[in-house]
Amino acid sequence: MQQNLRIPGPTPIPPAVAEAMARPMINHRGPEFAAIIARVSEGLQHFFQTTQPVLGFPSSGSGAMEAAIVNSFSPGDEVLSVTCGAFGNRLAKIAETFGLKVTRHAVEWGHAADPEAVAQALAAIPNARGVLLTHNETSTGITNDIQALARVIRQRRPDALILVDVVSSLGCIDLRMDEWDLDVVFTGSQKGWMVPPGLAMIGVSQRAWAATERATLPRSYWDFRAARKSLEKGQTPYTPPVSIYFGLDVSLPMMRAEGRDAIFARHLAGGTLVRERARTMGLRLFADPAFASNTVTAIDVPEGVDGKALTKAMRENEGVVIAGGQEHLEGRIIRIGHLGYFSEADLTACMDALERQLTALGHRVPTGAAGA
Ligand SMILES: Cc1ncc(COP(=O)(O)O)c(C=O)c1O
Repeated sequence: MQQNLRIPGPTPIPPAVAEAMARPMINHRGPEFAAIIARVSEGLQHFFQTTQPVLGFPSSGSGAMEAAIVNSFSPGDEVLSVTCGAFGNRLAKIAETFGLKVTRHAVEWGHAADPEAVAQALAAIPNARGVLLTHNETSTGITNDIQALARVIRQRRPDALILVDVVSSLGCIDLRMDEWDLDVVFTGSQKGWMVPPGLAMIGVSQRAWAATERATLPRSYWDFRAARKSLEKGQTPYTPPVSIYFGLDVSLPMMRAEGRDAIFARHLAGGTLVRERARTMGLRLFADPAFASNTVTAIDVPEGVDGKALTKAMRENEGVVIAGGQEHLEGRIIRIGHLGYFSEADLTACMDALERQLTALGHRVPTGAAGA
């Protein structure tokens, strides 16, 4: 039975991408790779909505988080970190690890950051050099209004660097790097890009390039300057994940053919479907509905049901793989991914399976539920 992989990354990949990735290796310092990286970079710029070069580092998203910090700041720099869940906390922790003075503005899990509250928090740090944001908090299923947050931050600190984790949102939910004046924007290949894990992709604004020159945090592998210099020659400083580039060379044109707005609309429809079906089953959504994510939905495990038994039953009895909660939410919520390569049928099949397995585990689904 083919699995219906419904975790918020890694995500399923289209057969044409899998086929492209099975191609024999090529010289990563040769003209063929230079042509591929040029096409991929141009495709990424379209989805980052930037005219700046998009850098690629062989790593998962967390590598990009570290790269963003070490290229932007110097030891002792003060930053405001707006955290809404596990991934916001991870970024704050990385900044602390590298000796930044981090003030955390911690938002209750399941909620989005309020721009006015962020503005107030920023007012208390007159020397703030940067603000760390998460666009889509995958651990709770909320999407922050980055446009509104960036606006209030810019009003108060025109020169501060705005770093945005867009790991589980870019290419799925609208985010305009240049128009919204964002500085370092980073994602990972295993999320909305319809390719496997292995490549971190980072957009860097002109303001951030200037900061990179001044920043004194130690960096070697993650140096943005080396990556840009290599990109100009159609290369990467170190051996790239060549197969991921083969995959992106197919998936990005597929995404372009579907169209940016159509992709955002498909994700909105996917999120709406999952949320509606969950409500119809009498389930409570974990995230504030006004900021519900269109790439991942977090659902409270109903009273009397064992969350771990539910994910196990989904996998073993239905071939549907969903995620559990992280940290203190382990066993308390389930998370369903709807990003990248998915169809309405995949989501309907997932929710039908969820309804069957919840019923089997003793949850009473209200009569008249869609799949009942
Ligand atoms: C919002 C967000 N940030 C960062 C990461 C870390 O990425 P990775 O697991 O690829 O290191 C993830 C992974 O799920 C994520 O969802």
